[in-house]
Amino acid sequence: MSSINYSEKIPNNVNLSEDRALQRALESWQPDFINWWDDMGPEGTTDASVYLRTAVSVDPQGWAQFGHVKMRDYRWGIFLNPGQQDRKIHFGDHLGEDAWQDVPGEYRANLRRIIVTQGDTEPASVEQQRHLGLTAPSMYDLRNLFQINVEEGRHLWAMVYLLHKHFGRDGREEADALLQRRSGQEDNPRILQAFNEQTPDWLSFFMFTYFTDRDGKFQLCALAESAFDPLARTTKFMLTEEAHHMFVGESGVGRVINRTCQVMNELKTDDPKKLREAGVIDLPTLQRYLNFHFSVTIDLFGADESSNAATFYSTGLKGRYEEGKRTDDHQLRGQTYRVLNVVNGQLVEKEVPMLNALNEVLRDDYIKDSIAGVERWNKLIEKAGIPFRLKTPHKAFHRNIGALSGVKVSPEGQVVSEAEWAARHDEWLPSGADRAFVASLMGRVVEPGKFANWIAPPAMGINRQPVDFEYVRFN
Ligand SMILES: [Fe+2]
Ligand SMILES: [Fe+2]
Repeated sequence: MSSINYSEKIPNNVNLSEDRALQRALESWQPDFINWWDDMGPEGTTDASVYLRTAVSVDPQGWAQFGHVKMRDYRWGIFLNPGQQDRKIHFGDHLGEDAWQDVPGEYRANLRRIIVTQGDTEPASVEQQRHLGLTAPSMYDLRNLFQINVEEGRHLWAMVYLLHKHFGRDGREEADALLQRRSGQEDNPRILQAFNEQTPDWLSFFMFTYFTDRDGKFQLCALAESAFDPLARTTKFMLTEEAHHMFVGESGVGRVINRTCQVMNELKTDDPKKLREAGVIDLPTLQRYLNFHFSVTIDLFGADESSNAATFYSTGLKGRYEEGKRTDDHQLRGQTYRVLNVVNGQLVEKEVPMLNALNEVLRDDYIKDSIAGVERWNKLIEKAGIPFRLKTPHKAFHRNIGALSGVKVSPEGQVVSEAEWAARHDEWLPSGADRAFVASLMGRVVEPGKFANWIAPPAMGINRQPVDFEYVRFN
C-alpha cells in the first residue's frame, strides 16, 4: 500500500486502477491541471531541468528520490499515508466510534468546504510566486522555489482526489473551480485573503514560506486528526512536504540576517541608509516585513469566536493541533478559553466557551511555534554581536478578521488612534519606499555557486550536493 505505482498515468498508492470511473475522471482533470500549470506556474521555465525531489514511497525512511526533471513532467500523484487498522475517532461527539472511510451525508457540505478551502491555497501560492524565478538570488534558491511550487501542485492533487472520490458531481465541479480561481484576480479571486496578496520579492517569499506555510502546517495538523480517515491520511503525507517549505523560509530569512549582520560589522554601522547603500536589507526593514506577514497570516485562522469552529470540532471534522497528545476529555463541553475583545476602545480578555474559541486555540499554538523560529533568527544576530532583536508583533496588531479588526493596535499592543496609526504606519509595516528598495535588490543570479549580495550562501546544499551544484539546467 505504501509504495507508489509510477507505471500509471497518475502515480498513486491508492490502487487507482481498480476504480475505473475515478481513474477516468482524474485523467480528464489531469490535462486541465497541466494547462493551468503552463499558464500560471513558474514563468519562463518550461525547458529548465530542475533537481527535484519526487516521492517514491510514503514510508518515513527514504521516501524521496532526487533527479533533474522538467517541472511540467513532474510526477504529480496521489499519496496517502497507510491506514491505521481500526482507527477510532478520538475527539468530539463521535469519540470512540470507528473513523469514517466515507463521508457521512450530514457532514458532506462542511467537509467539502474544508477540503475546498485547503485545496484553494495550494495553486494560489504557486500563482503568487510565479514571477520569482526571474529574480532568483541563486540557483540553489531557484531550485527550492521550484520544489515548493511542484509540491503545492501535488497538494492540490491531494485535495482534488478527495473531491473526486468522495463528493461525486459537486466534487468534480469544485475540482474544476480550483483551476479557475486566480490569486489576486478581481472577479474570481482565491478564497482566503492572504492568498490574494502578492509575493513581489524574495524577502516576501521567505517570510511567506516561514509564516504562511506554517499556517498550512497547523491547518494540516488539525485535519490530520479528522474522523474522515482519507482526509487524515492525505494530510499526514502533505505535512512531510510542508516541513521543507518552512525550512526554506526560516533558512532564507536567516541567510538575509547573516549577510546584513556581516556588512553591519564590516562597516561598523547600523544606519539603514548606509546599509542600503551597501546593498543589504537593514534589520528594521526585516522587522516591518515580519510584522506584515505575521499579521496577515494569523488572520487565516479565522474569527476568534466561531460557531463553525465549534461545529467542525464537535462533529469530528477538524481536531486541535496535536489532539492525540492532549490529556483533557477531547469534547470540551463546559470549558472556557480567553480571547481578546475590544471594549470602549480597549483590549480586554474575555472568557468564552472553548468550543467557540477553537480558531483562537489553533492561532495561539501557531503563534508559539512562530516565535520559536524568530528566536532562532535572534540567535544569529546575537552571535554577530549586534544589539537588535526581531519580535513578533502583538496578536491584535494589523488584524482584519474577528473582534480585533475594529481597532488599531501598535506592534507592542497599545490601542492607538486612527491619526497615530496613519502617522506611524510606515514605521510598523513595509512602506512603499521599503518595498521599492527591496525590489531594487532583486536581480537574477543563476550561475552555480554565486549569490546575490543581499543574502549569504546556505551552510550546505540540497541532498548533500555541494552549494555550487548545478541545481537547475537551462536548456
Ligand atoms: Fe501546500
Ligand atoms: Fe507549503
